[in-house]
Amino acid sequence: MPKDFLVNNRRVLIVSSHPLFAKGLTRLLQNREQADVDVLGVVASLEAAVASIERLNPDLVVVDYDDKAVNRDDLLSQFLVGGERMRVVLLSLQKGGDHAVVYDRRSMAASNINEWLEEWNAVSGTAEQLSGAESFNSRSSTMKNLLHGIGVTLVVAIFAAIGIFGLRNEWLLPIPAAVQAAPIDQLFSYHWILISALFALIFGIMVYSFIFFRRKPGDETDGPHIEGNNALEVTWTILPLITVLGFAVIGSQTLREVLLPDPDAMEVRVIGQQWAWRFEYPEFGVTSTELVLPINQQVLLRMESTDVLHSFWVPEFRIKQDLVPGQETQLRITPNKVGDYKVRCAEICGASHYAMLADVKVVGEREFINWTISKSELPEDPIARGQIYAEQYGCIACHSLDGTRIIGPTWQGAYLSEVPLENGSTVIADDTYLYESIVNPLAKIHAGYPANQMPLNFSETLREDQINDIIEFIKSLQ
Ligand code: CUA
Repeated sequence: MPKDFLVNNRRVLIVSSHPLFAKGLTRLLQNREQADVDVLGVVASLEAAVASIERLNPDLVVVDYDDKAVNRDDLLSQFLVGGERMRVVLLSLQKGGDHAVVYDRRSMAASNINEWLEEWNAVSGTAEQLSGAESFNSRSSTMKNLLHGIGVTLVVAIFAAIGIFGLRNEWLLPIPAAVQAAPIDQLFSYHWILISALFALIFGIMVYSFIFFRRKPGDETDGPHIEGNNALEVTWTILPLITVLGFAVIGSQTLREVLLPDPDAMEVRVIGQQWAWRFEYPEFGVTSTELVLPINQQVLLRMESTDVLHSFWVPEFRIKQDLVPGQETQLRITPNKVGDYKVRCAEICGASHYAMLADVKVVGEREFINWTISKSELPEDPIARGQIYAEQYGCIACHSLDGTRIIGPTWQGAYLSEVPLENGSTVIADDTYLYESIVNPLAKIHAGYPANQMPLNFSETLREDQINDIIEFIKSLQ
């Protein structure tokens, strides 16, 4: 530290292109500091200021804040590079005496000019106050900070309250219709509270700052330079750690409740394929395209996919499970609310993924038994049976019955029609052709339709009599 900084001989450089600014300031400083101030010179441009700073090494540089001829930012960036102790004051006379920003090379902190001058005076031993209003000012700024603290706390609290009490599970989620939905919803609401609090903390402070800490017009000064805050950093490390660990515990408890098996669970096989659902009830010998479940009885869904990944999801039951080709997956559901729901595929699985829906009915026990009895009796009419199989095995997901084009050729009027083939020839769609197209779809490819969309395994999944019934059904669609 230069020795002359401690004695009373302050060496000051003034940067301004207005002669009155320099004159007035010189007089002011000399009066205030009892002539101990040595005004080294007055320079009117950035270049001159930089040269003078290097040559004269002043203790203090006072810059005319309102002077358009001097680029403050450039001056400050030059000032930052030097090694000697020095201070820069940006002083505005137009805005009144209280508008000044102090840059101290030691810390580069901008603070109140009064506080800084007080320190300057204390160091030199001539503790003269620049302004008698200083102690009043610092008291009023403490008051201001307190008010801002209360204000920002209020805004954050209001935001949090809107999130936590304004958007409840009942309004956000579909009705819960299974025992497994309760722990999931509980977990969801814990998450929701946490998310609301975090949102309020970030957004509340942001909105408050937008309103009360806007940049004043013409103010181009930097904000205070803050380097670290140990207490804050420890807090924002420990708190999230505890929160995440807490959620891990709650999450594992939730998982345990959701997976809790009942040894008396009823088994249902769930078969997913592009783009249909089939449900088989081995205990009742029933196959269905809708999932009918008795209330208050746990059902164990054993799921498989015949082609690609699908996902079984009934939003009212909350839980969800992927269907994986070549691997059985399971899901346990205990429906506890009678009603009509929908299972929707929740894994993108091709062109008609959006339409991979099936009805889910939760019914009373009596009604369920009656349904299984009615379902296990197949109709006498082969056409009616063929229609049931066509629905169960997903044929009509790709073949329309009314002439519209979906994925594959329509079945309406298909029988005995002349089919143009990919290789340029044609074939009459008789019984032999229809049979071959079901069990070996790549043998003759319908011109203009993708060859790889039809499942290749119907010779294994369908029985001979079922195939014949489906052909009877196609023949009826004239
Ligand atoms: Cu199956 Cu999406």
